[in-house]
Amino acid sequence: MYSVLKRCKNTKFYVDSIRYIRFAPHESYFMKIFRDKASLQTAIAKQRNAGKIGFVPTMGALHEGHLALVKQALLENEYLVVSIFVNPTQFNNSEDLKNYPRDLDTDLAALKKCSEDIFVFAPSVKEMYSENVSAEKYDFDGLDQQMEGTFRIGHFDGVGTIVSRLFDIVKPDRAYFGEKDFQQLQIIRKLVSIKNLDIEIVGCEIVRAASGLALSSRNQLLNEQQKNEATLIYKTLQEVKKKIKEEAIEEIYKFVSDSFKKHPLFRLDYFQIADEATLKPIKEFDKNKSYRAFLAVYADEVRLIDNIALN
Ligand code: PAJ
Repeated sequence: MYSVLKRCKNTKFYVDSIRYIRFAPHESYFMKIFRDKASLQTAIAKQRNAGKIGFVPTMGALHEGHLALVKQALLENEYLVVSIFVNPTQFNNSEDLKNYPRDLDTDLAALKKCSEDIFVFAPSVKEMYSENVSAEKYDFDGLDQQMEGTFRIGHFDGVGTIVSRLFDIVKPDRAYFGEKDFQQLQIIRKLVSIKNLDIEIVGCEIVRAASGLALSSRNQLLNEQQKNEATLIYKTLQEVKKKIKEEAIEEIYKFVSDSFKKHPLFRLDYFQIADEATLKPIKEFDKNKSYRAFLAVYADEVRLIDNIALN
C-alpha cells in the first residue's frame, strides 16, 4: 500500500477525490475518479494554464472505438478528461436506459491501458440533473429533424443538454466525438456555435471490426451469425461510394434497398445520402459539396447505424 500511495503522490496531478482499484494481487494503482463537479473543477483549475485540456464524453461500455478518441486526445493535449455517464434524458425508451451496460471497473481498466494520467468524471444522475431529470429544448437548425432525430424524438435535446453541462464543467480546449454518430457530431458543432463556446470539436474516424462492422456497445447483442453477416452493411456503403460517381441517386437508393431485401438477417430502417452540412437528403450530386451516405439497419431487435463519406 505504501508504494501505491507514493506513486499516487508522484502523478502529474493533485487529486481531491480518488478511488483505489485492485485489478490483480500484483497490480494496483490509483485512478483519478471524480464523482462531483466541484472536485473535478478544482483539479482542472490547477492545470488550466499548464497546457491544453482535451475532453472525451462517453456513456461507458468502452470499446476500441471510444479508446481511439481517448488515444487521439492524449496525443493532442497535455491533459485529458473522460466522462462516463449514462445520460437518462437522451433515451426515449426506459428499457434501453435500464439495460444500458454499466461496468465502471472494466471501463477504468480499459482507460488505464491508454494512460494513468486521465481525469475520469463519473457523476451520478443527481449530480448532473439535481431533482429535474429533463432535457432543455434546442434549435439545431433542422439537423435534429433528420435520420436518428425522426426515430428518437427528443434524443438530441438530451444529448445537447448533457454535453452542454459537461462542457460547462470541464471547459475543455478540444472535445472529441466519433464520426460513427456523424449526426451527433454535427449537432455538437452547432451547439458550440449557438452557445458561442471556445471549444474545438474534433471528429474522429469510425473504428471498425475486421468484418467492417462499426464498433458499438450494441454489437455485444448480436449473435455470431449476425456479426459475420453484418459485413454486408459496410460492403453496401462502400459500393454506394463507388456508384455515386456513375449512377443516379434513385438507382443507388434502389440498390441499397434491394441489397437488404435479399438478406433475411437484416431489415433496412433508412438509407439517406445527405449533405454533410445540413444532413438533408440530396437529389443531385454537386462535386463542390461534401456528402455522406447514412443508414440504420435492424438485426432482429438490435438497431445498428453506420455512415460513409462519399467525397
Ligand atoms: P457513446 O455512445 O458512449 O459514444 C461516445 C463517443 O464515442 C461518441 O463520440 C461516439 O461517436 C464515439 N464512438 C462510438 N463508437 C465509435 C466507433 N466505432 N468509432 C469511432 N467513434 C466511436 O455518444 C455518446 O456516448 C453520448 O451521446 C454522449 C456524447 C457521451 C452524450 O451523452
